[in-house]
Amino acid sequence: MQTVTDKVGVERDGDVLVILIDNPPINAGSLSVRRGVLESIAMLADDATLRAAVIIGRGTTFVAGSDLREFGKPLEEPQLPAVIRALETVAKPVVAALHGAALGGGFELALGCDARVALPGTLVGLPEVSLGMIPGAGGTQRLTRLVGVARSIQLVCSGERIAADKALALGVIDAVADPSDDADLRASAVRFAAGMTGKRRVRDLTVPPDAPEAIDAATQAALKAGRGRPNVRDAIERVKAAASEPIDAALARERELFQHYRIGEDAAALRHLFFAEREAGKPPEDANGEARALRRVGVIGGGTMGAGIAICLAEAGLDVVLVERDEAAVNDCRARLHEHWAGRVRAGRCNAERASAFEAKVAVGYDWASLADVDMAIEAVFEDMAAKEDVFRRLDATLRPGAILASNTSYLDLDTIASFTDRPGDVVGLHFFSPAPVMKLLEVVRGTHTSDDALATGLALARKLKKQPVVARNAFGFIGNRIYDAYRRQCEFLLEEGALPQQVDAALETFGFAMGPFSVADLSGLDIAWRMRQARAASRDPNARYVAIADRLCEQGRLGRKTGAGWYRHPEGARRGVPDDAVQALIIEASAAKGIERRAVDDDEIVRRALGAIVNEASKLVAEGVATRASDVDVAMVHGYGFPRWVGGPVQWARQRGREALARDLDELAERSGAGFVRGDPAVLV
Ligand code: NAI
Repeated sequence: MQTVTDKVGVERDGDVLVILIDNPPINAGSLSVRRGVLESIAMLADDATLRAAVIIGRGTTFVAGSDLREFGKPLEEPQLPAVIRALETVAKPVVAALHGAALGGGFELALGCDARVALPGTLVGLPEVSLGMIPGAGGTQRLTRLVGVARSIQLVCSGERIAADKALALGVIDAVADPSDDADLRASAVRFAAGMTGKRRVRDLTVPPDAPEAIDAATQAALKAGRGRPNVRDAIERVKAAASEPIDAALARERELFQHYRIGEDAAALRHLFFAEREAGKPPEDANGEARALRRVGVIGGGTMGAGIAICLAEAGLDVVLVERDEAAVNDCRARLHEHWAGRVRAGRCNAERASAFEAKVAVGYDWASLADVDMAIEAVFEDMAAKEDVFRRLDATLRPGAILASNTSYLDLDTIASFTDRPGDVVGLHFFSPAPVMKLLEVVRGTHTSDDALATGLALARKLKKQPVVARNAFGFIGNRIYDAYRRQCEFLLEEGALPQQVDAALETFGFAMGPFSVADLSGLDIAWRMRQARAASRDPNARYVAIADRLCEQGRLGRKTGAGWYRHPEGARRGVPDDAVQALIIEASAAKGIERRAVDDDEIVRRALGAIVNEASKLVAEGVATRASDVDVAMVHGYGFPRWVGGPVQWARQRGREALARDLDELAERSGAGFVRGDPAVLV
């Protein structure tokens, strides 16, 4: 092997030059990689005894992406388009040998080659749009020449990773190496290259035609999923340009837009989140546990959450034993599970055979003895300490030594729950979100006595379920619900002062929340928080400002969507709630009762105060150590509460806003919120 740069080497294989990229762990496309490939191509051009080349990654993957850390700074030459230009200009064919993943710039590099050979299971894709940018090295132009405009819009805008077999069917790759007779990717690629008679540049292809309706449908779907972000619009426009503009002009414009977005706020926020998500999956520094093996998992309670959790477990391949109270509850739970999978089949998301295999993985009953050999049990019974006590005493008596005892409680004290057992070290909180099969966030709660192994097992389960874990210390509402509670309270203050639910919701949805707080409350039901407020009534500071409007709604039986009315009216079949005069009257009455003179509240103030309340609470819980890292708050809010991804989370928002503006926001918040407001110090965040 001859060294070209510290990250690239070359070797002859007959008359084929093998260019080996060696930049562990993911062979990221850094400066030294680009320079090395460029120089290797010059060697290929200059050496008359070579007739082709293969580019391959050392280890387990091709170039699985660009080095994101380089993206915030000016990029050094040579940049990727120059490398790809050289690949296309050299007169001899170059084959990309793909394994592991070829993503982003790595996939663009492969598309600049004359052919692509992949091992089965290799993933290819363009994640740039999901990182706030657009592809910048020809992805929009070359992929479109292979798959057509409609499919390219879908792939570019979603960032979907497609596996080798699908990529082959789409014409994105040319061959899948047969693992049975030849697991050696390099040898297959070299053979493929040696058999090529000339160049086969993707740039010379014409875009396969698509029906205008298909392009239109792909455009609308991408804009909707991309929440109309400007980079999504430009990505669509660039893909369409592949069919109408000369390629060099189109590539130049693509690069220009890429450079523009690369240094933009969305991209910075999404890069922050990319790293924050990876960090959040790691245990805190002081916890070095070993995850215990999980094969069979028990679930106690098969209501909304228990059934949802059982579904997640079964779909991840675990055997599930679900214990309910009695025959009737068992039947309800079975029906709930059956309906879930039947719905998936009806929607075409799952075939009938797989659905029944999943359903067969969950054994539902009411006999506690069936839990004797589970590796973990997750409790999801009523949110009531007496119910939790009963369940944890029985779990302690039933489960084998070494099994993990988990609770899905939303607000209750995990240490108290653990104290009902003789093995508090094995007790951990696993706080799923509703609906469990859909929501990505999983708060892994570390009680005072939770062992490092139990914590590690919770994190390992999250990975197995493809959830996003965030570790929280045991405290009221953990991370997410505690912040959400402060946010919702602030929004209720705004109602008392002059705003209406529809205005607050609209302002926060315009900011980017998937749904405003009052629509969220109607969707999930007002009664959960109502019960929590009642339970805490005795310990509440009697002088603190308290908005009772939601209590009045609950007393009137307005519990949200499920009762046809809550903060809004919900006529049968309507997708959105309808503003209700009765609610407005209740709000005006509440203001009058407190002697508050209602005033016009503008949308800016709504966003400033709602976000300020989130940031204030976040700074307190980071200072208290409830969250391990400030960035964990961002991960929790984005994955569990519909906070806009492209803002990067509330902490990232606070950093962008800057210390001075933030200090002014919190002054305003303190003054407007009145008694009971406890100010945090956002210095821990920014
Ligand atoms: P749910 O009322 O829908 O279901 C509770 C189930 O537990 C019922 O089916 C009941 O029959 C069963 N159950 C009660 N006592 C039992 C016992 N001793 N043995 C076996 N089964 C028993 O309640 P949901 O909403 O599923 O909540 C369950 C837990 O999850 C609560 O702690 C709640 O705070 C928490 N949670 C709820 C979320 C939500 O949005 N609903 C979100 C996250 C957590």
